[in-house]
This record gives sequence, structure tokens and C-alpha cells, in this order.
Amino acid sequence: MPSSRDTPSAASEAVEQPLSVVILAAGQGKRMRSDLPKVLQPLAGRPLLQHVIDTARQLSPAAIHVVYGHGGEQVQAAMRHEALGWALQAEQKGTGHALAQAMPAIPDGHLVLVLYGDVPLVRAETLAELVRLAGRAPLALLTVVLEDPTGYGRILRDAAGSVRAIVEQKDASPEQRAVREGNTGVMAMSAGLLRGYLAGLRSDNAQGEYYLTDVVGMAVESGLAVAPLVAATESEVLGVNDKLQLAQLEGVHRRHCAEAAMRAGATLVDPARFDQRGELILGRDVFIDVNVVFEGRVTLGDRVRVGPHCVLRNASVGADTQIHSHCVLDSAEVGRDCQLGPFARLRPGALLGTEVHIGNFVEIKNSELGEGSKANHLTYLGDATVGAGVNVGAGSITCNYDGANKHRTVIEDGAFIGSGSMLVAPVTIGAGATTGAGSTLTKDAPAGKLTLSRAKQLTIDGWQRPAKSPSRKPG
Ligand code: UD1
Ligand code: MG
Repeated sequence: MPSSRDTPSAASEAVEQPLSVVILAAGQGKRMRSDLPKVLQPLAGRPLLQHVIDTARQLSPAAIHVVYGHGGEQVQAAMRHEALGWALQAEQKGTGHALAQAMPAIPDGHLVLVLYGDVPLVRAETLAELVRLAGRAPLALLTVVLEDPTGYGRILRDAAGSVRAIVEQKDASPEQRAVREGNTGVMAMSAGLLRGYLAGLRSDNAQGEYYLTDVVGMAVESGLAVAPLVAATESEVLGVNDKLQLAQLEGVHRRHCAEAAMRAGATLVDPARFDQRGELILGRDVFIDVNVVFEGRVTLGDRVRVGPHCVLRNASVGADTQIHSHCVLDSAEVGRDCQLGPFARLRPGALLGTEVHIGNFVEIKNSELGEGSKANHLTYLGDATVGAGVNVGAGSITCNYDGANKHRTVIEDGAFIGSGSMLVAPVTIGAGATTGAGSTLTKDAPAGKLTLSRAKQLTIDGWQRPAKSPSRKPG
């Protein structure tokens, strides 16, 4: 198997060059059949292009340039949080022509690493290895041995195993098509050399395009060595052209994440029903049931258990907490030894202390709950500061919004909120206070006392239940 070892190894001669990454992303992606440009299609919750940029950033490049064309404004708008160089390729005349559009912004002394915007799972380690190779040979090329190489450019090697050229599928002879080593499209070469070869590209081929791949043959002809690196796995260099391939890569990504979680010690009831769309930080002996979706940055402490069908987004959960089925946590912090759900919803700014219990159909937003407090059934706590040891009875609501502004509710330690209490904010329930079930409180409830606002109970003697009128048709 050809590998990085068949390059002249002279690590000592390696010169550190500043790195410029160029991501080719001007292709239309017709086969997506979508109004969203191909490189903005989401994989694991992030645009394909974002994956490539995030991976490239791990190499600490001097600059990242994106060659854009189709849907350019949309792509630029989606990436406005990134510091990028943008090069317009108004007409898609091939990969060589695309790269040429970015070259004016890259100084001769830089090493150019070419990536594709639609190859999202390439690993930073692989790219770092390629960059290392490019420090020792004029051109480093990432190849892959494929089960079915249809559609790929084929790597042509001589009897000694040295790379001689790349031939595109459409230009290849039957013998060349039988070659299973394909071009991934990822390559690295110094900007000065590359500029010269790109200027010499011609489009007299089957597709009438300026092929970047022709640079390889040109370099070899002028006596330069090509250092190939064979990718360890096919999946990391797979491109996305349609929704089927997008789902395939989502599956690959899912599997990688599940494997990493299990290697970190988590028990996954079914790795195929585990979705991680961001960063997951795991304590020891975490247990994750089926169909749990993790988004953004999620931290789970030791022995946390997550029940089936939960969504956790940008959340941290303390040790020994149990999240029962069907809970949604979004930008929330949960302490240790808590019980959540089933069917609990923590919205942004929910901060739960130790041993807090949040039960079914309870929604918490922008509220703190102190140690040992409980809201077990059908409750809304919004913009509230709840102390320790508070019990919020079923069906209680902080009426935090007056139609124009939001107001705070304060419930001090040890208060007992009777079922069905409406706490009209701004309002404070004092420490150890009790509110009577069904009360609507518009004024503060003093500490240690029972406060209620309830119409007196009446019984009407002699009242008759209305009888059905005989003329009415049965409904
Ligand atoms: C290319 C390679 C082929 C390789 C394959 C791997 C060439 C000539 N061929 O073929 O050897 O095996 O990728 O997937 O390089 N792009 C532009 N502007 C253009 C054309 C393409 O920006 O004018 C971008 C596309 O958006 C895409 C990338 O370049 O990100 C590859 O283009 P694509 O048309 O998919 O090339 P392939 O024919 O697949
Ligand atoms: Mg392609």
C-alpha cells in the first residue's frame, strides 16, 4: 500500500511555511434540489462549509479563503461570524480555475492547502500530516483507495509506485478506470509553484474545464516529486452531492460521535439512536437511553442518566441527576441529584440547584431554584428567584408578563405555594409563607403566614340543574 513513507524523508529539511487554506465552494450542487446552496446544507446541525472551516482552523492557518459562486450572498451571510477571504468565481470553469481566483490574495511564500466545501468529515490529523509532507516534497496529495472509484479522478502511479498524474473519470481509458486509488481533491503545494502551474492549465479535456488535477502531471513532468498520503478511511473524504449522501455522512458522523462517547465510558442503549450535534463532555458512568439529541455544548456529570427522547442544547447537568423521558433543556444549568421530567422543559436561564425536582409539564425560564425546591406538576416559573426548600404546588404560574414588560417573582426559602396559585409579578412570597390553593396574588405575601385571595365558597340551596329541552336534536 502506498503511503506517506514513499516520499523522500528529510524531516530536518522541512521549512515551516505560513499556511493559506483555500476551500473550493463555488459549485452549484444541483443534485441537492434545494434553494439552500450545497455548502450550507446542514450536517449534524452545522453547514457543510462550517465543518470544513472548523477543521481547517485546527491547523492555525494564516488565512482561510473561500471560493464562492452560486448563492454567494447566502453563503457569505451564513459565515459572517468567520474571518475569511472571499474569492468570487463568477463562472464555474473547473477546480483549477476556481483555485486561481483565490491565488492573488496569497503570497508566494505560503503553503496552499486546497479543501472542498462539500467534503465535511476530513480530519484535522490527516490534514496536519499532509501539511507535514508538503514541507518535504513540493506537492502533497491526499488519495483514497475506494471500493467503487466511479466518478473520482484516478491516481496514476509508475512501476516504482511514484505518482505520475491524475486522470479524470471522463478522460480515463478502461485500464485507468480500473484503478481503485482515487483523488480526494485535497492537496498542498507552495503558492509560488502553484501559481505557475495554474497559469499553464488548459481546458482541452472531456469536460472543457480547467482541472486542478492536471497540476500533478505538470509538476511531475517538470521533475518535481509528489508525496501521496492515503487516507485511513473512505468516510473522511466522502463528498456530498445529494440528500442521500448527506444522510449517509450524517450516519458516519453519528457513529463517530457515539463511538467517542462510549470510549469515554458512557453507556448508550443504542448507538444508532444517539445524535450529537456539537460538543459533549461526559463524566463517568453516564447512561443515555435511545433517541436523545445533544446540541451545542452539553456537559453531563458523573452517573447522570438521560431517559429516552430528550433534547439537550447548551446545558450542563450535575452528577447523579436523572433526566426522565421527553425532557427539553435549552441553555440551562442543572445541579447535582436533581430529578427532571418526564416532560419537563427548561428554557434559557433556568438554573437549578442541588436536589431540585421538576416534574411533568413544568416549564422554567430565566429562573433560579434553590436547593431541594420542587415544582412537580403543570407549572410555569418565568423570571423567578426561588429559594431553597420551596414547594410549588400543581398548576401554579408566575404571571411575569403584563403584555409589555416582564417582571420578577421572588419566592423565599421554605415557602409553600398552594396549587393553582397565580403570582402576579412583581411580587414577593416571604420565607416560610404559604399561599392558599387557587389564590391570585397581586401583593406581597408576608413571611411565615398563610395568604390567600379566594372568593368565599357558596352553596345555593334549591338550585336545579337545567334539563335538556325536548325539541333539541341529539348532537
Ligand atoms: C473533483 C476532482 C476529482 C476528484 C473529486 C473528488 C478535479 C478536476 N477533479 O472532481 O479528481 O476525484 O473531485 O470528489 O478537480 N468547484 C468550484 N468551481 C468549479 C468547479 C468545482 O468551486 O468551477 C468546487 C465544487 O464546489 C466542489 C469542488 O470544487 O467543492 C469539487 O468540484 P466537483 O465538480 O465536485 O469535482 P468532481 O468532478 O467531483
Ligand atoms: Mg464532486
